[in-house]
Amino acid sequence: MNHSEKSILNLPKFNNPLYCNEYLVDGVLHEWKGETSEVYSTIHSKDKDGVIGPTLLGSIPDMETEPAIAALTAAEKSYNRGQGVWPTMKVKDRLRCLTTFADKMKSYREQVVELLMWEIGKNKVDSYKEFDRTVDYIYDTVEAYKKLDRKSAKFDKQSGIHAHIRRGPIGVVLCLGPYNYPLNETFCLLIPAIIMGNTAIFKPAKHGVLLITPLLKAFQESFPAGVVNILFGRGRKIASPIMETGKVDVLALIGHSSSAVALQDLHPYKNRLRLVLGLEAKNPGIILPDADLDSTIKECISGTLSYNGQRCTALKVLYVHESIVDEFNKRFSEAVDALKFGLPWEEDVFLTPLPEPGKPAYIQGLIKDAISKGAKVMNKRGGELSVNYSFPAVLYPVNDQMSVYHEEQFGPVVPIISYSDINEPLDAMAASDYGQQVSLFGRDVRKLAPLIDVLANLVCRVNLNSACQRGPDVYPFTGRKNSAVGTLSVFDALRSFSIRTFLAAKDTPYNNEILDSLMDSKESNFVNTEYLL
Ligand code: G3H
Repeated sequence: MNHSEKSILNLPKFNNPLYCNEYLVDGVLHEWKGETSEVYSTIHSKDKDGVIGPTLLGSIPDMETEPAIAALTAAEKSYNRGQGVWPTMKVKDRLRCLTTFADKMKSYREQVVELLMWEIGKNKVDSYKEFDRTVDYIYDTVEAYKKLDRKSAKFDKQSGIHAHIRRGPIGVVLCLGPYNYPLNETFCLLIPAIIMGNTAIFKPAKHGVLLITPLLKAFQESFPAGVVNILFGRGRKIASPIMETGKVDVLALIGHSSSAVALQDLHPYKNRLRLVLGLEAKNPGIILPDADLDSTIKECISGTLSYNGQRCTALKVLYVHESIVDEFNKRFSEAVDALKFGLPWEEDVFLTPLPEPGKPAYIQGLIKDAISKGAKVMNKRGGELSVNYSFPAVLYPVNDQMSVYHEEQFGPVVPIISYSDINEPLDAMAASDYGQQVSLFGRDVRKLAPLIDVLANLVCRVNLNSACQRGPDVYPFTGRKNSAVGTLSVFDALRSFSIRTFLAAKDTPYNNEILDSLMDSKESNFVNTEYLL
């Protein structure tokens, strides 16, 4: 029995369809009376008439431009050109709102995790991890902001000028997240954006959207009106018209560079628009002749195929030294074929259904193209097709004539290239449009040292004998070239969503007296030397 027959025999049931007809604008949960879009899972089940097909999970509003512009107006009003309650609020009061939200969010853990599994096919362990990591991210961000605030709770003096330097908000943020981490990556933009005093409009990704709806009330109850506005629908009816107004100060997007460029192009005031972008990547694994193959294969499996390779940080091409490539291919292919495919909630499942209905066909296209140009599928199960999956195919030898060499496959296919001279992968990386991370596998320090020196200039994180990854979230997450704009981490994100701004005063008895009483009076939320515990 192949896995497609098996998944049809064990048909699951989705018990809690969610028909969301609300959206959050200006602190009000508005009822949506217009068109709605049905949300389906690619996981098959029987519908009420007994017909087997993609599972209906619920629906979301398919919103029009008018309410989107109303959300922008609400965010603008709340920011009020920097004069609003939120951007001028005491830091500790803003932090309290964030903590309230995180506390409330925790009670939706089971519901959100269930939706993560059905909507985007993420396995149970990783779905819980995504939820918990996001809650931790909020608390960690609160602590990081306190630290930042403590550092700013002072005056500097240079060349006879006193300065009280802080980081201030930028304005209205349009926040768009990806489907592979619909909760975590979106909140890694939204949370630092608002904590710094900006206001936001947030539209969830196409997949992984229903799981946001249980949190609408928590957002409404935790923040002043207009600080967080949440819309549902298509980018062209919502995000594009918002950008065209020229009133967005920060575009915060994790997704594809083509979307980021298209949205930037719509903004009439280019220098007003700040960018915080996490984009695509083609992270390579480089396997040196002396690499320990047991641990290398383990890391390459998780690097290439955890969450089916649908991670921007996934290893998307492996360069293996020619002296070990046969042995590597054999053992790696066996390890791939041993991976368990199943429904996200099944025990020990590693491979799960792909949430994009067209993805299996796309992956098959990459495989066919590579085969027609000389590659072979090295593993027995490679390319086995089912309704919602294409079993990971290990392709070798891959060359630059093949689409899989250039495209970010974002799915279960692993291209392998052998090299004789280390400059081959280095030159390929230098010529690539991307520059996020690399995994380097080897032991000999004399070989590793000069390589690390070069690789650090080609990407932004060199993972030694380990898979590429974003976490831990306190470490900088960024990329060169078309892979990112700005840096995210618990700490760096606070910087990305703010700007340095300060009070300066000449060191004169007249000014000093004023500064003294300004501090004593505690009248200013900006000028204060209070130590936040
Ligand atoms: O899609 C890209 C994510 O940022 C990857 O995060 O490395 O923790 O899976 P991760």
